[in-house]
Amino acid sequence: MRVAVVGATGAVGSTMLGVMRERAFPASEVVAFASERSAGRVIDWGEQRLQVQPLSDDSIQGFDVVLFSAGATTSGEWAPRFAEAGAVVVDNSSRWRMDDDVPLVVSEVNPDALEGHRGIVANPNCSTMQMVVALKPILDAAGIERLVVTTLQSVSGTGQRAVEELHDQAEAVLDAKELEPPSVYPHQVAFNVLPQAGKFPEGSDYTDEELKLVNETRKILGRPDIGVSATCTRVPVYTGHSESVNVQTRDPLSPEDCRDLLANAPGIEVLDDPARGIYPLAIAAAGRDEVLVGRIRRDPSHERCLNLWIVSDNLRKGAATNAVQIAELLGERGLLGSSARAA
Ligand SMILES: NC(=O)c1ccc[n+]([C@@H]2O[C@H](COP(=O)([O-])OP(=O)(O)OC[C@H]3O[C@@H](n4cnc5c(N)ncnc54)[C@H](OP(=O)(O)O)[C@@H]3O)[C@@H](O)[C@H]2O)c1
Repeated sequence: MRVAVVGATGAVGSTMLGVMRERAFPASEVVAFASERSAGRVIDWGEQRLQVQPLSDDSIQGFDVVLFSAGATTSGEWAPRFAEAGAVVVDNSSRWRMDDDVPLVVSEVNPDALEGHRGIVANPNCSTMQMVVALKPILDAAGIERLVVTTLQSVSGTGQRAVEELHDQAEAVLDAKELEPPSVYPHQVAFNVLPQAGKFPEGSDYTDEELKLVNETRKILGRPDIGVSATCTRVPVYTGHSESVNVQTRDPLSPEDCRDLLANAPGIEVLDDPARGIYPLAIAAAGRDEVLVGRIRRDPSHERCLNLWIVSDNLRKGAATNAVQIAELLGERGLLGSSARAA
């Protein structure tokens, strides 16, 4: 399988390369792409040295799979060109996620949606991804009517520049130096909590990040009727998004039954002994692929509501690992090549 990794120098792209090696992804050749800025740079990938290429009509020919994480604009321009050249693109950006012709897939939740692909498959937003992994077993067992979600999202979810900004700000505060004006976020993120993750579209009270959580959750779960109320915040954590999720089920579900369901579901680890200090933590999730769930408890204000605390590594299951899992599924299910596409 000939594989292109587009955005290979970025936070998600470099994680995808690492995950491919860990999982012994069956690639006969891997080509790394990034912008003109990084062209010629060499990435060490195991024993191999990958020389970063710029995107061009010539360089994009002959791939089976493209793992794309170079932002929505680049994806809008180049993903269809890769697809036209015969590859299946797995895209991490928001560009194609809500397109009716593009499956939005989480490997444990809706893998069958891949059967309808037309050359592009979308990887969901990181906060949506980890939440739906935990919600799917609950949906299947007891139905879901409504979700109230607050996210506490790490800075690596914004990309490499945001990680550097947090580091520089934290260092300046600890050294009692004057801070540079923030360039990635609207305010200082170090030692702070920003009640804004993403941007406010014109005239909207909700950020695009919050709207993604609403729309993508409904599309992946195939349930446009689920009510979703979302608040997305940015916190000074390098890696790992945390989420407080209030789930209103259709049928009664006890915390005990919910714990059992989740403990037996794929991709989830339940950590739930709060009296002993055992619950999911961002620093424990970082570097792992599992979605960690804990603080599973009855909402005392509603007999069919449970509260959950859900944490996962936004760069791994929230982006890179799911993209690689999708590529594996495409290969296993014979869905690569132009002839395997839906009409
Ligand atoms: N970070 C997360 O947790 C997360 C989770 C889910 C989805 N995503 C999505 O994944 C995408 C990448 O995010 P990231 O966090 O990895 O960002 P990032 O660290 O800023 O990396 C961006 C990558 O895109 C490349 N790039 C930028 N413009 C390009 C162009 N015109 N042509 C080719 N390559 C170009 C960059 O190359 P240079 O090094 O040459 O600039 C870099 O490799 C975004 O769409 C983001 O929304 C991110």
